[in-house]
Amino acid sequence: MTVPLLDLRAQYDTIKDDVLAALMEVIESQHFIMGESVPRLEGAIAGLVEAKFGIACASGTDALLLPLKALHLEPGDEVITTPFTFFATAGAIANAGGTPVFVDIDPETFNIDPAAVEAVITPRTRAIVPVHLFGQMAAMERLLPLAERHGLAVIEDAAQAIGARRRMDGAWRHAGAVGTVGAFSFFPSKNLGAWGDGGMMVTSDASLAERLRRLRVHGGAKQYHHDEIGINSRLDTLQAAILLAKLPYLTAWTGARRAHAAAYTAAFEELPDVAPPVVDGANEHIYHQYTLRVPRRDGLLKHLKERGIGCAIYYPRPLHLQPCFEPLGYRDGQLPETERATAEVISLPVYPELSEAARDTVIAAVRGFYQ
Ligand SMILES: Cc1ncc(COP(=O)(O)O)c(C=O)c1O
Repeated sequence: MTVPLLDLRAQYDTIKDDVLAALMEVIESQHFIMGESVPRLEGAIAGLVEAKFGIACASGTDALLLPLKALHLEPGDEVITTPFTFFATAGAIANAGGTPVFVDIDPETFNIDPAAVEAVITPRTRAIVPVHLFGQMAAMERLLPLAERHGLAVIEDAAQAIGARRRMDGAWRHAGAVGTVGAFSFFPSKNLGAWGDGGMMVTSDASLAERLRRLRVHGGAKQYHHDEIGINSRLDTLQAAILLAKLPYLTAWTGARRAHAAAYTAAFEELPDVAPPVVDGANEHIYHQYTLRVPRRDGLLKHLKERGIGCAIYYPRPLHLQPCFEPLGYRDGQLPETERATAEVISLPVYPELSEAARDTVIAAVRGFYQ
């Protein structure tokens, strides 16, 4: 039995009627730009995460770029982030005119280490961009006081964490709605994926929401009148309609991901070599990825691939050692936990439609390699 890493076709089969009907409505209306599905989706996502405002945009990358542009970074302004993430997190910082400052991760959760953040804050620091990697939130209750003390914006990269929650001060708080702004991605492989690119910013700051709305349409609140320089980053009405049709399924999909994760973790308990994901006690993980830490990782990757089992390395090369960031002067060995993670992680299929038989096939293959 072969098992893909992700099976969007299987999902399509279960939602086809709802999504196609929603698409046909947009097509009949011919209202492709900022049609009524866009504000409806903005309200729905803001409601889901308990933020006041949602501002849709063209991608998760732009959902990071636009709030960073809103900071009007000057050359030399620093933005602290994690090097263990998808490139967009740091690319957006550089594209907004800032200098990414990379700090090491917590080896258990793979998320940014707040103590390391504190150590690199300088008078040039303007913002922190924590990433809620693989679907569990960073230690926001430790980052927020730092940001407050130093007057920094906190832009949450929640691209992989829609619906994830963290218990803070006795209350559940949603990924994206804790910092100054949260950024979501609707890339097709995400837990809530469009049929193309898409993104969403959320915030509870009314004036910031207004600015972000302007910045996504070339900086103009009124047509042909531009207060500042923005970009063209709207979400297509078609994508918004697809996402609205898919949204009612999200809770069940997350439940299925969590059930797969629990079954994997129980099965791997007997394998001393295999370290299942560690869930921080304050977190509710939504398992965008189910990521193991293992010895002989490349051997396992080859073993699984030879058996037709989808798996992937997120991420094989840390951002501080990417060629494009060479001018920043980071060296091999400088962020050891990140570098160790890039050598040890492997992500397994955890998509909601994964069958029990397929899951058992994955478990047997991992067992076969280590036993
Ligand atoms: C952590 C992270 N940040 C940002 C992005 C960028 O999102 P997009 O691909 O929608 O531009 C992604 C996903 O691709 C991501 O995983």
